[in-house]
Amino acid sequence: MAIPLKTASDIAGMRVAGRLASEVLDLLTPLIRPGVTTLELDRIAHDHIVNVQGGIPATLGYQPPGYPPYPASLCASVNHVVCHGIPNDKALKNGDIVNIDVTVIKDGWHGDTSRMFVVGEGSIAARRLCAITYDAMWKGIAKVRPGARLGDIGHAIQTFAENAGYTVVREFCGHGVGAKFHEEPQVLHYGRPGTLEVLVPGMIFTIEPMINAGRRDIRDGTDGWTIVTRDRSLSAQWEHTVLVTETGYEVLTVSAGSPPPPAFVEPGASGAAGASGASGAAGAAGPATAATLG
Ligand code: MF3
Ligand code: CO
Ligand code: CO
Repeated sequence: MAIPLKTASDIAGMRVAGRLASEVLDLLTPLIRPGVTTLELDRIAHDHIVNVQGGIPATLGYQPPGYPPYPASLCASVNHVVCHGIPNDKALKNGDIVNIDVTVIKDGWHGDTSRMFVVGEGSIAARRLCAITYDAMWKGIAKVRPGARLGDIGHAIQTFAENAGYTVVREFCGHGVGAKFHEEPQVLHYGRPGTLEVLVPGMIFTIEPMINAGRRDIRDGTDGWTIVTRDRSLSAQWEHTVLVTETGYEVLTVSAGSPPPPAFVEPGASGAAGASGASGAAGAAGPATAATLG
């Protein structure tokens, strides 16, 4: 199976879907405070996607083979939850960390992005994990340009995260995204430089590293979706949808509230919201160890 290449008109559609997904996170940002429940956030996101954006929440009813239908319009993964946390009626409390992952379908195109939020103050350890994971995502993004390989992305992320004392979750990966939620290629967040697929302009995929404060091992929760760290250590994740351009990359999941790229990302590379890079300057199938979902 080949990696789908997007045309200029496909890319225009993906820019809109990506911006809308990011705008849902902008909308939720001020609401993520002690006392709010992730179910409340889910309802607000659902209403905004459907009634304001004229879109479809891609996760609602999403059912890959072997999974029950996903019951919500976003994923909310708190503390030791690695990914795919289902919104619930438990209030967030001071010091929690939570990943909110939103995928909007607009005019048939999928925009997929997630951010970490620290509820209230947060410990230094929790804030550091979220910050390092953000930078790890960008270490991967900064590798994207024609001629680079997927292994370059994974290696950059893994090296950065492990040098910071953290571990990379292996079972879930980034993924091609477009008219389908999850398509080729798989984008592993670990690996060796110079290996795997060569990047070509028109490819669109997510980069969405899951980074653990403790060991990398995970286990399944009890609801068929939720994934947690085996040692119950904190886990963080950020996600962008990224286009390979003729000269580098363009991040498609950007909006007014997107956090700026880290200082190590070449400023000259910036396009809209500082999110596109020239000169290389956010699940699926693949190695047997990776799952089909990001
Ligand atoms: N948005 C997730 C990803 O980044 C996938 C979530 S699927 C769900 O690939 F069903 F759990 F919502
Ligand atoms: Co996602
Ligand atoms: Co994804």
